[in-house]
Amino acid sequence: MNSIQTVSNKAFSNIALVKYWGKTGRQYPLNPSLSMLIPQCYSSCEISFEFDEKNPGVKSFLFENMENEVFSTRIKKYLRDIEDVYPLTKKLSLAIKTSNNFPHSAGIASSASAFAALAKCLTDIEISLGIELEDAQKRSSMLARLGSGSACRSLTSAEFNLWGKTLFEIGSNDYGTDLKLTPTQQEKLGWPLLDTILIVSSATKKVSSSQGHALMHTHPYREARIEQANENMRVLYQAIMNGDPETFGEIVENEAMSLHALMMSSYPAFCLLLPNSLAIIEKVQTYRRMTGLNLYFTIDAGPNIHLIYPEKQAAQINLFIQQELSPLCETIFWGQSYD
Ligand code: PMV
Repeated sequence: MNSIQTVSNKAFSNIALVKYWGKTGRQYPLNPSLSMLIPQCYSSCEISFEFDEKNPGVKSFLFENMENEVFSTRIKKYLRDIEDVYPLTKKLSLAIKTSNNFPHSAGIASSASAFAALAKCLTDIEISLGIELEDAQKRSSMLARLGSGSACRSLTSAEFNLWGKTLFEIGSNDYGTDLKLTPTQQEKLGWPLLDTILIVSSATKKVSSSQGHALMHTHPYREARIEQANENMRVLYQAIMNGDPETFGEIVENEAMSLHALMMSSYPAFCLLLPNSLAIIEKVQTYRRMTGLNLYFTIDAGPNIHLIYPEKQAAQINLFIQQELSPLCETIFWGQSYD
């Protein structure tokens, strides 16, 4: 076979509800994490490939139809790093095109969706070349993990995805595991849940996730954090299985606060939250107390606030966001469900 073939895929971003913070070995997490997809934010990837053992590797790379030195360097390094688990990179010449449906540098991390879409393509190349895979989803998830840890949780269509070994014998450190809900569990939890993203600032972060992960090695609360994340995972898993939105929300918010507390207590310490991030948290908690609606916040490694709430409560909650919270942010990426 020396003709050119093409594969293409799309993958959603995801938001962690139990946070992965700190890694060990080859992109293994210090603690288990759990996430849901963000259906309004996805990356697309297309790879045209042909056998070329004399000149293997990335022949061209386009991000949003333009050359991009930073991304191209990262992808080339990634493909070199995975050569032992994906030896086809030593035989194939690849023309890669990627894009996001959300603006780059809008304050939404795109590495999860980007590596997930790329990894899906890499797996599809194997399938199209007749390589037998035991489980294509696990294979894509494992390959995505090696690019960006959280990306391994984007290879799913289930409601939630869990990464890392838990103390209750679910999950693997190698790839994400689906958490599928029954219709009764969906109903009780208020599924579909939306994630509306409030962009407080789209400026580049002063400390990257990689630097944050590295600071966990010598963090004074490292062991306590591992214990806390495992316990939060157990309680959140039970809340999801029992359809208990209040406990769900309590853990989700505790995890967001804990992630940022870890940043503020590392050496060197840093703080990614901004005054408007705190103002939004305050308003969300007051609104919930006054209305009894299931509106909760979570926060990634940045100042932006993700609001998680049931679609069936969206009419009322969206009005609150529009009136009370939109003046505190640059942009809003409104939550959507899959269909
Ligand atoms: O996948 P990374 O290396 O970008 O790290 C992600 C870390 C958090 O977004 C803060 C938490 C998580 O579990 O996604």
